[in-house]
Amino acid sequence: MIKAAIMGYGTVGAGVYEAVVTNQKVIAAEIGEALEVKRILDLRKFPGDPAEQLITDKFSDIEEDEEISLVVETMGGTTPAYEFVKAALLKGKHVVTSNKALVAAHGTELLQIARDKKVNFFFEAAVGGGIPVIRTLGTGYQGQVITEITGILNGTTNYILTRMDREGAEFGDVLADAQRLGYAERNPEADIEGHDTCRKIAILSSLVTGKEVNFEDVYTEGISKIDSTDFRYALELKASIKLVGAAQFAGNQVTVSVFPLLVSDENPLYAVQGVYNGIVIKGNLLGTTMLYGSGAGKLPTASAVLADMMEAAKHKNENVRFGWTAEKQAVTSHESEKH
Ligand code: HSE
Repeated sequence: MIKAAIMGYGTVGAGVYEAVVTNQKVIAAEIGEALEVKRILDLRKFPGDPAEQLITDKFSDIEEDEEISLVVETMGGTTPAYEFVKAALLKGKHVVTSNKALVAAHGTELLQIARDKKVNFFFEAAVGGGIPVIRTLGTGYQGQVITEITGILNGTTNYILTRMDREGAEFGDVLADAQRLGYAERNPEADIEGHDTCRKIAILSSLVTGKEVNFEDVYTEGISKIDSTDFRYALELKASIKLVGAAQFAGNQVTVSVFPLLVSDENPLYAVQGVYNGIVIKGNLLGTTMLYGSGAGKLPTASAVLADMMEAAKHKNENVRFGWTAEKQAVTSHESEKH
């Protein structure tokens, strides 16, 4: 029996609990033993919730519990997520997170601690929601030279832009809907100003180069200045507007930027509507491919977290070589690079 803990019982944390309970038979059959959530860390109370009895407000109940070998972090933000994740890894527990802010800011250090402790630090849900883009980039294109990634990586902004395009809806109204549907960050500025996309493209770029791409080096422009006039011009050009994270890799030269892109109806990203994410990847053997799927939301994100929990359970006695090293990758990224 693998005993797990979930830190943060918000939309994603509750989704992970539901996923583990709903799919318990499939999970046990696949990993050869049962997977159980023993504890959930949250400062709030959840009267009447099926997991009510598991809730604790003390991290020490997880950290000190030697039966808990796998910790899921779905709190968001870097404080106290960073301190808790680091402590859990140092205790020799595997950690799975959906937290792109944490991975972008501290991934390099946390990956190294996991290696040293012979446990795993996985973060499939941090980019692309339910789309297995991390695993695909990590192992699906081994031996290949990845030359370019252009991704719609934020469900909230794509949902907003799609409704502005299709319905002429007002920015503020559709943002409120995205928040109600559980897509937006707690502080939606992270979505709208492109910071969420910035962290995600930095993580993908780090995976491609095997070195740390610092998200703070990435030129980032969000969608707050886009209005109905922009969409009218786009329509005349048979195009739409999408917020993308884009990275080009040429030898040691890496260019990474986040910006609203005019996307023609011939571009595969044009068809990525609503909360969906689409990630176009180019490689020297692959040509062009696109990964597509639900980029945010409770169960799609939980599905990626669960896949990582399964992977950690299958490799409970070893560190799976994964991620990037502490070497810093020089990044070119400024407004003049916009296309
Ligand atoms: N706020 C994020 C989004 C959640 O809208 O894509 C998933 O990372």
